[in-house]
Amino acid sequence: MSDTISLPMRFGSNSGQSVTRRDGIAKVTGAATYAADNHPDGMLYAVFVPAAIARGRVTHFDTGAALAHPGVVEVFTPQNPPPVAGNPDEKPFMFAVPVEVLQSDRIRYARQPIALVLGETIEAATEGARLLNPRYEAETPRIGMDAEPATKAPSGPFGQPAEVIYGDVDAGMAASQQSVDLTYETPQQYHNAMEPHAIVAKWDGDRLEIDTPNQAIVLSRGFYAYYFDIPPENITIRSPYLGGGFGSKAVPYSPLVLAIAAARKVGRPVKLALRRDQMFGPVAHRGATRQQLRIGIDAQAKMTALDHISTATVDTFDSSFPEPACNASHGLYAAAALRSTMMTVRNDIGVPGAMRAPGEASGSAALECAMDEMAEKAGLDPLEFRLRNYAEREPGTDKPYSSKALRECYAEGAKRFGWAGRPMRPGQMTDENGMLVGWGMGTALFGAPMFAAEARATLRPDGTGLVETAASDMGQGAWTALAQIAADSLGLPLDKVEFRSGTSDLPDAGIAGGSGHTATAGGALHAAGKDAIARLAELAAADPDSPLYGTGNSGVTARDGRLFATGDESRSEAYEDIIARAGGSAVEGKGNASRPPEDAERHAMYAHGAVFAEVKIDPDLFQMRVTRMVGAFAAGRIINPKLAESQLMGGMIWGTSFALHEEARFDKRSGRIMNADFAGYHIPVNADVKGLEVITVHEDDPYVNPLGIKGVGEIGVTGSVGAIGNAIWHATGKRIRRFPIRIQDLLRAS
Ligand code: MOS
Repeated sequence: MSDTISLPMRFGSNSGQSVTRRDGIAKVTGAATYAADNHPDGMLYAVFVPAAIARGRVTHFDTGAALAHPGVVEVFTPQNPPPVAGNPDEKPFMFAVPVEVLQSDRIRYARQPIALVLGETIEAATEGARLLNPRYEAETPRIGMDAEPATKAPSGPFGQPAEVIYGDVDAGMAASQQSVDLTYETPQQYHNAMEPHAIVAKWDGDRLEIDTPNQAIVLSRGFYAYYFDIPPENITIRSPYLGGGFGSKAVPYSPLVLAIAAARKVGRPVKLALRRDQMFGPVAHRGATRQQLRIGIDAQAKMTALDHISTATVDTFDSSFPEPACNASHGLYAAAALRSTMMTVRNDIGVPGAMRAPGEASGSAALECAMDEMAEKAGLDPLEFRLRNYAEREPGTDKPYSSKALRECYAEGAKRFGWAGRPMRPGQMTDENGMLVGWGMGTALFGAPMFAAEARATLRPDGTGLVETAASDMGQGAWTALAQIAADSLGLPLDKVEFRSGTSDLPDAGIAGGSGHTATAGGALHAAGKDAIARLAELAAADPDSPLYGTGNSGVTARDGRLFATGDESRSEAYEDIIARAGGSAVEGKGNASRPPEDAERHAMYAHGAVFAEVKIDPDLFQMRVTRMVGAFAAGRIINPKLAESQLMGGMIWGTSFALHEEARFDKRSGRIMNADFAGYHIPVNADVKGLEVITVHEDDPYVNPLGIKGVGEIGVTGSVGAIGNAIWHATGKRIRRFPIRIQDLLRAS
């Protein structure tokens, strides 16, 4: 029935408006509570002891000393682990990871939790953890890209093949007029959302309540059900606000599972909040890569071959998440032949995981620099070289793109940036202060996935709406953009719609990841709203006292809280009047969304963009500043331009971070990260971010999903890293093929 209602999304109503984030006031006034703000009665504080070595065994704890400290309530070590029902060394579901919950004295990586102390106060628990004073039997850790021979990955982290081949790359290379063969390195990067991971766990018999920031609330509920052998319905996860997620808050990690187990064992609620340094180990990171790129071109500078081999560091005990850098080479340039190969090197590190644009971020850093080097060799402007290799259909599959406004991104971005005046040779521009000036560019690409989600929409007797789905707002703006979609589907202004979200007791909104949350959860909300309107229309059409009597539910449209007869707008009725005469009960609709497999078969679906960067570099000291960036992105329908631009800008800032700042530095003897704090692990501050400009290029996509949404969460990182690396070359004439690019790299290359 609902499919007979035609209810197009309308710009100018709610979607398409730059609505200010609805949770903004609550956040800036402190009214919004984060996980660690919860303090149930009787709560204990948990502090875990992080392993000080990366490989070996823990042999002794001064448990008595810790227990003797005032306020220490319990100490868990591998001698007396709090019970966990599921096998922690298994990977029970896709996306899940093995966890360390004191099941063994083995140490797999530095900062692995090896003991947990519960105290009446955070101070008592902290001191108890210090007093445990662990002793170790250390083995030589395997750290770095050359720690072990590289082996071919069995598959990519999302089940993608480890090797992708079309055409004959060797023949393509042999037939090329010119070629490059270049190797780039990217470092391990660690998740450092503003809000470190935290959990408050409270048991009531076999019922479990958890406050924790989470990007996939209902999915995670299933994971926790596995670890504690209770039905998922017995678990409530509350995650109303997150201080960032970026891929690290989608699955349960060891410290969180351990805190829940401890709470069950002692029969009191437990809070565990990670310290900043504890983020550098058990809660996932981006693996390091070494990427070899070979590109061949013919006399017209068309690519005859693209060969991309990426070797990524993985842990030793799961190894299923090689940073899938090769993703960046698929689907973008029209190379006659392509081969990509994912390799892994085992390290004594925690499990790598999804980190903003996993694969595309690191892969495009290398690919876009290699494209620049190839363009230089061919004597072509980097943009012209990319246009010569513009793919009209997806390379390899020959599928048409569902939409692709990349040409427009190139054109609009280049125009706004002023690319046309760029000298071809490096080292040609200086500013009034004698700084070297360079301009570089990169192409941005990210997939446009959709997952599965469900939602509920209710029209209340007073004519207002309630929409519900267990979405996650990591700061990207789900509270706002999803409500805008829902309001449109219900034909109501935004302030007449209540949006309930952020708890696992609501319908499953899928994962807030893969840049697919707006499309997925939004699709479900849209369907639920349409369903509610269809039911309301049935009531009106069947009611002889309604002006809409006899219209049939296909003959109405919903707008401003009224149903209108299609083609005769003089016939209309307010929702509350229809509901009142029908007996006064709320009208409920349900909806779900997912992408039919045949849609994905027919079209290749990506968001695209072009990023242009300017750097200024001190000619003597090689201090580097990104002084301007312009990113032009085409990502289908933009629900909220203000929030989308903020997301894209955040991605470009992350690109700056990748290009110039972030790197975990290891002590190879201990296997420990030496810079596990914000003094040593650099991320951009305001002074590093200047002159950022984001353009969203109009793109109608009739195929990607019914709402035409592609997503903007991750694409901003891609392209940006290469643009900055290329700008640094353009300023200095020096090609630095390892990230982040540091002053000493430029000095050494002198
Ligand atoms: Mo993301 S790395 O899909 O949260």
